[in-house]
Amino acid sequence: MGVGVLGTGHYAPDNIVTNKDLEKIVDTTDEWIRSRTGIEERRIAKDDEDSSDMAFMAAERALENANVKAEELDLILVATVTPDTPFPSVSCMIQERLGATKAAAMDVGAACAGFMYGMITAQQFIKTNAYQKILIVGVDKLSKIIDWTDRNTCVLLGDGAGAVVLGKVSEGKGILSFELGADGSGGKELYQNEANHLVMNGREVFKFAVRQMPQSCVNVIEKAGLNKEDVDYLVPHQANIRIMEAARQRLGIAEDRMAKTVQNYGNNSSASIPIALSESVNKGIIKDNDIIVLVGFGGGLTWGAVALKWGK
Ligand code: UT7
Repeated sequence: MGVGVLGTGHYAPDNIVTNKDLEKIVDTTDEWIRSRTGIEERRIAKDDEDSSDMAFMAAERALENANVKAEELDLILVATVTPDTPFPSVSCMIQERLGATKAAAMDVGAACAGFMYGMITAQQFIKTNAYQKILIVGVDKLSKIIDWTDRNTCVLLGDGAGAVVLGKVSEGKGILSFELGADGSGGKELYQNEANHLVMNGREVFKFAVRQMPQSCVNVIEKAGLNKEDVDYLVPHQANIRIMEAARQRLGIAEDRMAKTVQNYGNNSSASIPIALSESVNKGIIKDNDIIVLVGFGGGLTWGAVALKWGK
């Protein structure tokens, strides 16, 4: 028996904010943002649309895609750094709204790598037969912690949610290997300050990311007993196209074999990877038996990667 993805879903708010819109708010240009990050626009949630609302939408879509009923869920894990409130957790909020009466629920905090941490935590419960079906949601409403006067960060981020349902799949399919890591000494490079704003030393995070993300990809490929040539598709955290390219080039895979949503959504933190995965599934890009690598990094500092064989 393997542990794999039964279904995916995502949700992004309707409201589009373009680079041109941001030119009116801070000293920046569309050209700078595009060339340094690959971002063209991002989605920003309305004031009355919180993380739990977006998480609920993505979760419903993932359950439908997986053909799994909410009552079948054993556990809900929500990766987020922007919960509606510290407690109750977003996972408890959506447990109620979904009607997942049997499910335990908790939030997972590992910033942009949170979804990877959630996925691997879920895998352990299923692998040990403790649970059968687990919903993992990555959601962030970063707009509520953005300092809209700080051009170093406000141009990079956006709101959204992505979800997967994890469960048992055929032997040989599903998650083949993983890597999770943390380096708390880098906490000062990306954090939330006393004013509740996200603060980032972009250059340091960039250096960490271009080193760690390609390395984590290589590590999970090796742990799975595979070669770089075996990888069919890469789903990296969507922070900056230049960082994503570093991972793609290290694996030597073609441009169209990497999920790319950063141009439309910016960096959605915990939601980036499941949104990119869900969009790729909806477009029919991912095929049965494809070898997929998911990889993320974020504040903490944290990182995580998974190699999996697609299909049930
Ligand atoms: O989810 C994980 C979190 N974050 C990330 O992955 C972000 C990692 N870092 C990055 O993606 C990049 O470092 C940035 C996109 C944040 C910055 O790109 P960069 O090529 O590393 O630029 P830089 O920080 O070296 O800054 C170059 C210049 C600076 O001006 P000076 O000091 O050279 O005069 C910045 O002040 O660009 C300036 N700058 C801007 N200019 C126009 C910074 N932000 C902006 C902006 N518009 N929005």
